[in-house]
Amino acid sequence: MFRKRGSLILCGTFLFITWNAILVLLLWGRPSPSQPGGEHGEVAERPTNDMMGDVLRMADTFEAELEMQKEILMQIKNQQSLWEPSNGNGPKVVVPRQPVIPVLVIACNRVTVRRCLDKLLELRPSAELFPIIVSQDCGNAETAEVIRSYGNQVVHLKQPDLSDIAVRPEHKKFQGYYKISRHYRWALNQVFKTLSHSSVVIVEDDLEVAPDFFEYFQALLPLLKSDRSLWCVSAWNDNGRDGYVDPGKANLLYRTDFFPGLGWMLLREVWEELEPKWPASFWDDWMRQPEQRRNRACIRPEISRSLTFGRKGVSLGQFYDKYLRYIKLNTEFVPFTKLDLSYLKEETYREHFEKEVYSAPVVTYEDVKQGQLKGTGPFRLQYSSKDSFKVLAKNLGVMDDLKSGVPRTGYRGVVSFISRGKRIYLAPPPGWTQYDPTWS
Ligand code: UD1
Ligand code: MN
Repeated sequence: MFRKRGSLILCGTFLFITWNAILVLLLWGRPSPSQPGGEHGEVAERPTNDMMGDVLRMADTFEAELEMQKEILMQIKNQQSLWEPSNGNGPKVVVPRQPVIPVLVIACNRVTVRRCLDKLLELRPSAELFPIIVSQDCGNAETAEVIRSYGNQVVHLKQPDLSDIAVRPEHKKFQGYYKISRHYRWALNQVFKTLSHSSVVIVEDDLEVAPDFFEYFQALLPLLKSDRSLWCVSAWNDNGRDGYVDPGKANLLYRTDFFPGLGWMLLREVWEELEPKWPASFWDDWMRQPEQRRNRACIRPEISRSLTFGRKGVSLGQFYDKYLRYIKLNTEFVPFTKLDLSYLKEETYREHFEKEVYSAPVVTYEDVKQGQLKGTGPFRLQYSSKDSFKVLAKNLGVMDDLKSGVPRTGYRGVVSFISRGKRIYLAPPPGWTQYDPTWS
């Protein structure tokens, strides 16, 4: 862009000088008005000779050309407001400025961060709108070298405190979780306080993202900003295994009371609220506690926009082989910024969701399991206690764990998934009011 602008200026300067040269030529050819005979109007009546006519025609052409150049320069100046802050006395901003959403990549000692970064760089639609900040903990030289190799395509930050964290003896084995928490606090402070961003999408080094990852977050930023009952947008569906999601509904989004993490967007205001009490360890489960969540929901997709390839992690692959590795990554690009997402607003969503779930016919576990459901669905499968939830979830292959009483992907207690091609709502009895944090 700047090179093009430079050549335009050069061209304009050239034309300007030429034009001046022609003017000088013209004036030279003119007799001075004070010369004898000047008052007889000799100049006006002087017949235009051929050369003079040519010069004038050329001058006209140059004038038109200059006018065009001016027009182009003006257009460039207007476009500038897209990437440069307006100084207030320039021309009015014609096109609204797009918000910048940095992507924070949390890295440590895995050189496979390359898979994460390659995908982000391949897919990001604009380097200006989506700067990539890689924050590295652990001081691993090989990983640092990999990150360095991306040059100025990414910003490379290094968490300075690599000391061990004093923990009580029975937590020795959880040292990793303490370090992750310390790193998150430092990195998010860099993003919001040092770099003064107002939002961020957090990605861990073992995540690969879907083609419409950036489109998704860009489209949802306005909703996250305007709806105070939301506190995050996540790329992850905890029950997003193949066969458990509707492949024809890549555009479908949900609200969930369960904080999913794994590729998620956070606003500065929420960070300012969490930072002073940020926990020493297990930050994600801490976020799932009622004191932090305060009844707020996240947006999550039907089909995940992130995939985790990190089997060897701090949690030693607890869930990896059982669930995580099967989560299906979306492949179809959904133009979210062009879709109407107003159905996700709190009241609209809740009313529609409750109607949809509680007007669905109640079925039994046996009906679902044996594929004997009549009709297209959706169907409602009811649970009434922690144990019945766990048994049903386990037997149907959805996540059966609860954090602070909230089931994974749950919204007002309801877990939505596909079983044998039919939509099932695993739901509490009608009239649900709140979660029971003792369910775990
Ligand atoms: C799990 C969660 C993860 C969460 C973490 C903390 C899943 C699949 N993963 O981590 O989202 O953040 O628990 O509760 O649910 N890291 C450091 N410093 C370290 C070690 C790791 O910054 O000393 C970074 C890694 O680069 C990575 C992140 O922390 O980005 C998570 O580490 P990982 O080893 O992947 O742990 P999980 O078991 O997946
Ligand atoms: Mn991981």
